[in-house]
Amino acid sequence: MIKKCLFPVAGYGTRFLPATKSMPKEMLPVVNKPLVQYGVEECLEAGLAEVGFVTGRGKRAIADHFDLNYELEREIAGTSKEQYLASIRNVMEKGQFSLTRQTSMKGLGDAILNGRRLMGDEPFGVVLSDDLCLTDKGEDGVLAQMVKLFKQFRCSIVAIQEVPEDQISKFGVIAGDKIKDGLFQVTDMVEKPAPEDAPSNLAIIGRYILTPDIFDIIESTAPGKNGEVQLTDALLTQAKNGCVMAYKFKGRRFDCGSVEGFVDATNYVYENVYSKEF
Ligand code: UTP
Repeated sequence: MIKKCLFPVAGYGTRFLPATKSMPKEMLPVVNKPLVQYGVEECLEAGLAEVGFVTGRGKRAIADHFDLNYELEREIAGTSKEQYLASIRNVMEKGQFSLTRQTSMKGLGDAILNGRRLMGDEPFGVVLSDDLCLTDKGEDGVLAQMVKLFKQFRCSIVAIQEVPEDQISKFGVIAGDKIKDGLFQVTDMVEKPAPEDAPSNLAIIGRYILTPDIFDIIESTAPGKNGEVQLTDALLTQAKNGCVMAYKFKGRRFDCGSVEGFVDATNYVYENVYSKEF
């Protein structure tokens, strides 16, 4: 029912300079796999096989990562090293990839609006790949959990998690009516509030399911916090006109857009995932 997923990957990644001067942040490897591949694997597992990237200048490595490298394929064919290509081959087999560009980085809302042609007039997932979400083996990934909910509610869904007060100003924060354990109907949303202005401690993280009316709403949304077109502002309009759900996902999230989160993710993946695979 939902077939498509958008990956906004055009941002500058300034918190990782100088590493991100000529390399996309989304290509930073957590152990042996780039961040963006973790996100794409999660979206394919949720059944979303049409993957669209909103890229920008200096992001060619992302497109190349999801394309064949004939020379490399020929070099390692039949050798013991071939196993290292298994995961990306699997991704390339299952997914269809397309790209569009964001010419000036005017915020997440603007990046998503740039993906309009790729997503068309149907509901779609959104993954911010610098939020690395991991679940235990055999459990649904975060996007798969949200797709199941969408089947029930048929409106936009944001993933949320509780965050401590001193972190709250880094996130979009919701207020909502509790529908059941871990599920809220959104009544208010504020982008990066001061702790005293935050409507709750429930912060939006980088997983969304959006209904396509969001595009017209973004178009008529004025730039907000930091002069950027904020997805949070558009979602609030959508919540007031109809319905937006906030879902406290099951699993772990690492903020790999920050150095500390990236190091935590690396340690976790090395100990719990990588060392069991290789
Ligand atoms: P972030 O704000 O975390 O990414 O956006 P950033 O701006 O690249 O990072 P810093 O703050 O400078 O270190 C979350 C996601 O949205 C994308 C980013 O690429 C990232 O994956 N994004 C953000 C866009 O595609 N376009 C934008 O205009 C802004």
